Amino acid sequence: MNQSENPVPESDETPDGETTADDSSRLFPRVTAYRFRRGTMRPGQQRNWDEHWPTYGQNVSDTLVDPQELFGRTAPLVVEIGSGTGTSTAAMAAVEPDVDVIAVEVYQPGLAQLLGMILREDLQNVRMIRGDGVDVLTNMIAPDSLTGVRVFFPDPWPKARHHKRRLLQSGTFGLIASRLRPGGVLHVATDHVDYAEWIGPTGDAEPSLERLDTATDVGHVPFSLDRPVTKFEGKGLQEERVINEFLWRRRG
Ligand SMILES: C[S@@+](CC[C@H](N)C(=O)[O-])C[C@H]1O[C@@H](n2cnc3c(N)ncnc32)[C@H](O)[C@@H]1O
Repeated sequence: MNQSENPVPESDETPDGETTADDSSRLFPRVTAYRFRRGTMRPGQQRNWDEHWPTYGQNVSDTLVDPQELFGRTAPLVVEIGSGTGTSTAAMAAVEPDVDVIAVEVYQPGLAQLLGMILREDLQNVRMIRGDGVDVLTNMIAPDSLTGVRVFFPDPWPKARHHKRRLLQSGTFGLIASRLRPGGVLHVATDHVDYAEWIGPTGDAEPSLERLDTATDVGHVPFSLDRPVTKFEGKGLQEERVINEFLWRRRG
């Protein structure tokens, strides 16, 4: 992916290869938080992309998504922000065919990998949006419409001066909560201790969300919480990093 292909406007690359875009004019102002990752698609992936992306994917836009039109049915809808290579997305969609999933990712080769899995496994319940998750939620997802939002291993931005770039800020919690329907659930996982210590109280401070206990409240969650161990998470486990999981439910 080169910068001209990047769907997020007015971004600027910092010397260490990170990309941010100031968006203070937006409804939920923040500094966008994704890392600008280079990467190219393999020839087979490029062929799949050219042929099938228009069916399964779209770029971020200002047009509200119509889930009925997108999936050809009405079903509980989950948005996953930062789906990476789509390992969790595809595995969870395969065991939950009655739940529709929109995977949002800025990294094109990651989306291409997920597209490959969708085609190989004939997953009818996954669609993709290429772009910044905050833009997608703000402009493309109707308020009160989601059964779930998943954020697995968001970039931790460990340096204190970069914390403002973290995806999970108070504004984003508010935005996510506004897109969940009452009773809808946000599921977050991180292996970064410092980020976990930031995520917990920031989510708890969002008045329209109530924290669920990951051990005892799983019965209240209207979709699967069983994540497969991704390549990314596997590395963390080898290094004996602790995985912290969080669940919040939108108050009714
Ligand atoms: C550390 S990776 C984790 C990927 C995957 N969730 C997993 O568990 O393997 C974080 C991913 O989030 C994506 N990302 C970060 N900020 C994003 C944003 N604002 N919108 C969409 N994707 C984002 C990155 O491109 C990256 O692929």
